[in-house]
Formats: sequence, structure tokens, C-alpha cells
Amino acid sequence: MENQEKFSMPRIGEMAPEFKAVTTQGEINFPSDYKGSWVILFSHPADFTPVCTSEFMTFATMEAKFNEANCKLVGLSVDGLYSHIAWLRTIKEKIEYKGMKNVEVTFPLIEDITMEVAQKYGMIMPGESNTKAVRAVFVIDPKGIIRAIIYYPSSLGRNFEELYRIIIALQAADKFNVATPADWQPGDDVIVPTAGSCGIAKERMESKDENIKCYDWFFCTKKIDKETIFKKLLKK
Ligand code: BEZ
Repeated sequence: MENQEKFSMPRIGEMAPEFKAVTTQGEINFPSDYKGSWVILFSHPADFTPVCTSEFMTFATMEAKFNEANCKLVGLSVDGLYSHIAWLRTIKEKIEYKGMKNVEVTFPLIEDITMEVAQKYGMIMPGESNTKAVRAVFVIDPKGIIRAIIYYPSSLGRNFEELYRIIIALQAADKFNVATPADWQPGDDVIVPTAGSCGIAKERMESKDENIKCYDWFFCTKKIDKETIFKKLLKK
């Protein structure tokens, strides 16, 4: 049982595992403190490393955009609180990257020196490192359910525009009861409906909705313009 817990990997559709932690913004009780918000919980291998620095600067610069989409950010590494604080201060005072400078990271960064949270979330991948988390991303919805999981190795910096696209796509899928096709961006056609059944297939083939176009019973698309998506999803 102990081993099972140590190497547990939460899965999509499950409740996000609970934990209490100390962060650079005070203590948090996860995920209950985030009830009602989307949250991206992400890990990085170590403070004072270059790829992680570029990631934190990028994420911090985009934080307002995520917040507008009702999404909060929470970082984690197995470093201690004083390391986190010193690293984030150094970033603000000294680092310039892709035109970003004086960047202040105001979202919480969890200290996880015991690796309790990292183990619970399957962020430690021994093939990569026994003592550092990989770059894991957990997208958690307002009910505390895990909706997407992505893992990157230590050497590969994440694409934060893609993380934003994931948040908007998941919210659009929930709001409009649709699915989003390959490379979907807000304003592109969406797929309707998400669940397939003979009844639904016949119904949608015969739909009089001018916005719906069916190519065959299994492939129907619908237009939802960008303005509608953002008007319904973003809080201004
Ligand atoms: C980095 O953030 O630069 C990094 C961290 C761990 C391994 C390799 C690179």
C-alpha cells in the first residue's frame, strides 16, 4: 500500500488528490481553496535553473490572461521556501528574457522538500530523476476534477499558449457541449455533439441548424465565433 501511494499517478476524471502545503504566498489547502476556479498545478525540476526561469517569467507575464479565464496558477518544486523566495527575487531583479523584465511571480510556489505532493501527483519519474520533479501539468476544474495532464522532460520548456488553449478549449467544451478538433483555436469550427449514439447521429444529420454542417453521421461541425466564446467564458 505504501509503495502504491508512493508511485500513485492521478488520472483524468479523478478528484485531484488533497494536500496542505506551504507556499510563497502562505499556506494552501488543495484543491479546496480553489473550489469554483480552474487551476493549473505545475511542477518544475529545480529553482535557479534556466529553463524553469524562462517558464516562470512567461507564466507570470500571462497570469492575468489565465485569471480572466477563471484559472489560477500554482507551481511546485522539491526545493524549500527560502530557495523559492531567493530565486523569484533574483528573477525580478536581474533576469531579462524575450523582452520580459522586472517580472514578479505572484502566484503560489509550493515548497515540497519531503516530495509528498510530488509523489502523490506522480511528478517524480525515476528514469528522469529520483530527486527532482519533471515538468508536470495538471489542469483541474472548478469541482476539483482533473481534466488534463501533460508531462514534459526536464530539458523541454513548456508552451504556455498551448496551456491557455487547453483551458479555453475545455471550458468551451463544457459550456457549449461540443468537442474541439485538431489544432483548434477559438473561432475555429467545433465538433457536435460529443457523445455518439444512433439517435443523436440521425438527429444531427437532419438538423435544420444552419450553423451545423454534417459530412457524414460521425463528423458534424458547428461555427462558434471567437467573440461568442470569449464573451461567454472570460470575466472582464
Ligand atoms: C532547467 O530548468 O534549466 C533545467 C532543469 C533541470 C534539468 C535541465 C534543465
